[in-house]
Amino acid sequence: MPPEPVNPDAYRAPIGTHDVLAPESRRWQTLVAAFADRAERFGFDLVVTPVFEHREVFQRVGATTDVVRKEMYELTDRGGRDLALRPEGTAPVVRAYVQHRPVPPWKAWYVAPNFRYERPQKGRYRQHWQLGAEVLGVDDPEIDVEVIALAHGFYREVGLERVELLVNSMGDETSRPAYAAALRSYLLDHAPALGEEFRERVEASPLRVLDSKRPEWADVIERAPQLTEHLSDDSRIHFEAVLAGLDALGVAHTIAPRLVRGFDYYTRTTFEFVSSALDAAQNAVGGGGRYDRLAEEMGGPPTPGIGFGIGIERVLIAADAEGAVEVGPRGRLDVFVVDGVGDGSAARVTDALRRAGLRVDRAFGGRSVKAQWKVADRSGAEVAVMLGRDEAARGAVAVKDLTTGEQVEVALAALATWVHEHSTAARRRVTPGTAPETGSSP
Ligand code: HAM
Repeated sequence: MPPEPVNPDAYRAPIGTHDVLAPESRRWQTLVAAFADRAERFGFDLVVTPVFEHREVFQRVGATTDVVRKEMYELTDRGGRDLALRPEGTAPVVRAYVQHRPVPPWKAWYVAPNFRYERPQKGRYRQHWQLGAEVLGVDDPEIDVEVIALAHGFYREVGLERVELLVNSMGDETSRPAYAAALRSYLLDHAPALGEEFRERVEASPLRVLDSKRPEWADVIERAPQLTEHLSDDSRIHFEAVLAGLDALGVAHTIAPRLVRGFDYYTRTTFEFVSSALDAAQNAVGGGGRYDRLAEEMGGPPTPGIGFGIGIERVLIAADAEGAVEVGPRGRLDVFVVDGVGDGSAARVTDALRRAGLRVDRAFGGRSVKAQWKVADRSGAEVAVMLGRDEAARGAVAVKDLTTGEQVEVALAALATWVHEHSTAARRRVTPGTAPETGSSP
């Protein structure tokens, strides 16, 4: 029976999501490896949390934020549990902290997908990936500086130069309500001129109006009272210490008094990294801040926290514009094995070379030697190893340099060592002290 006709739309990635194949996936590998390496140099360990959580975990992120109110992917599982796909990375990490109580300070980094039902456009997707880091249990402004420096240096390390750091302080529970009241009253004074939607937004959350990009509101927002003028002494001293610490490390920054990040959990230090290589509407390549009350709100002990998330897709769009994070040479194979014997020795030779630390591939499906040579040429391998009857009788193989075409005969027992010495890619990968065993013979 012929198979049922398929609906081609069902077999495409859902709108707002993307597959990442090579060579683009090699750029992802570069970013993730660079971030992992940098986070580990700063004393962070990897944390992995589930893609879905109980819905309550994200209620703490923001009853007034679109990400939670309108964009969350919510589901009820077959056991009747109310769950949500992670819209952001901080709440799950804090939930894990509250659950496991690792000894503070707890420094954790992650790479994870997030889900938001957004209107998809370039740089804004329904599934996006973040590289992130969180520190739980440290109140010292020096950790704010360290966390910001971790992100700041990452952009530089991957070659992005047009990334600017904006910092602000959201104040604390003593200063924020007074500020919100002053802001509300100022904004409501202008509501008659700006219309009903403006009034509704102000009533719902005056702070959220500050990050609106509506041109007709810009003037009023521009002249609004500023958070940093209403800080409590504690918040102000903390903020000044953060700014001084950034100066001391040479981390260039701009104070952005109207930077209110999109989640309710933020307290005191907040920051964002924007790229001038991106369109203004989606120019944030990362952002974060303090959330000193979140652990307690989730039933844990009072524990200050700070962290950030960096959008992988946006970093790559900025990298395209800046000519950074190049794909680099193909995930180079060292060896392609061409089987002219067909007695199973190709599998054994391939396996032995791989165990000796080399990157090796071969053809399958009993193809002719001529067809295998074609695959070898396309494979990007540096050399081809040809298993032939005559050579096998002498305990040897023919080895062809696929760039120069030169061919030599090498004893099977010395093959792995020979390739290690001749493959430039293999030599590049071997760093002192990590040289793989090369003496084993295939
Ligand atoms: P966020 O600002 O919502 O913060 O996201 C962090 C970064 O993820 C953004 O700066 C942007 O680069 C990227 N991003 C966000 N939404 C999208 C999207 N729809 N499509 C593509 N990229 C996107 C957080 O998520 C907080 N959890 C950050 C944090 C960590 N705060 C404290 N710790």
